[in-house]
Amino acid sequence: MNASLDRLIKDFHLFVAQFRRGSDEDVANIDLKVEHTLEVLNEARGLTSVLRPDPGLAFQAQTAALFHDLGRFPQYDRYKTFRDALSVNHAKLGARTLAKERLLAGLPGPWRRTVLGAVFLHNVRHLPAHLPPALDFCTRVVRDSDKLDIYRVMLAHFEPGARPNNVVVMGARPDGQGYAPALVDQIRARRIGSYADMVNVNDFKLVLISWVYDLSFEHSRQVLADRGQVERLFELLPQDEVLGELRAQVLEDLHRP
Ligand SMILES: [Fe+2]
Repeated sequence: MNASLDRLIKDFHLFVAQFRRGSDEDVANIDLKVEHTLEVLNEARGLTSVLRPDPGLAFQAQTAALFHDLGRFPQYDRYKTFRDALSVNHAKLGARTLAKERLLAGLPGPWRRTVLGAVFLHNVRHLPAHLPPALDFCTRVVRDSDKLDIYRVMLAHFEPGARPNNVVVMGARPDGQGYAPALVDQIRARRIGSYADMVNVNDFKLVLISWVYDLSFEHSRQVLADRGQVERLFELLPQDEVLGELRAQVLEDLHRP
């Protein structure tokens, strides 16, 4: 095999450098995605070091993590948004870009197909059942790693005094008044919250909280529990009885032994 992760990381940087252009805000948004990518790769490394699949599978999962958001770069370049609904499915665009740019040319064919499949599937709401085992594993590693890092990214933007960035909050209204009862219902039912029900930033916080119910690996849940980020999201939401009860449920599920 003619590829190492270090080589692929270099290729990633070379490829995305061309999209670092436009206004200061544009460059900052691109840099944010580069940073997110490298953090997701770190999370995937942490996860695979605990799960210990065979080294070839670990490499495929890490490669998929490295390229999972490749589509974000041409997406932002063309549309100046990260909202798929207003532009293009960034996972599909990422898989297409990976193939077109031959970034996986050094990988054996079956590995290439697994990485492309994991990139393609990383953002679907529900994973299809009965995927080939390698694809299922890599996709789950990417999805958990992605979620773990998005907590970091979003919390930085929700903290009081953070610079408002409409691109990062995906167009959610900045006011902290109220929240969508539909999202509360989805979390109560231990289901993943729907972006379609998201209106303001409180709803975005609820969507993030709902991800507690969409992590594939026990280790991811433990990492999230240890970081205290779900607790912080609840602190940044209105302090009422409904959310108090929801908080008790979610924290109990998150910290269960
Ligand atoms: Fe993504």
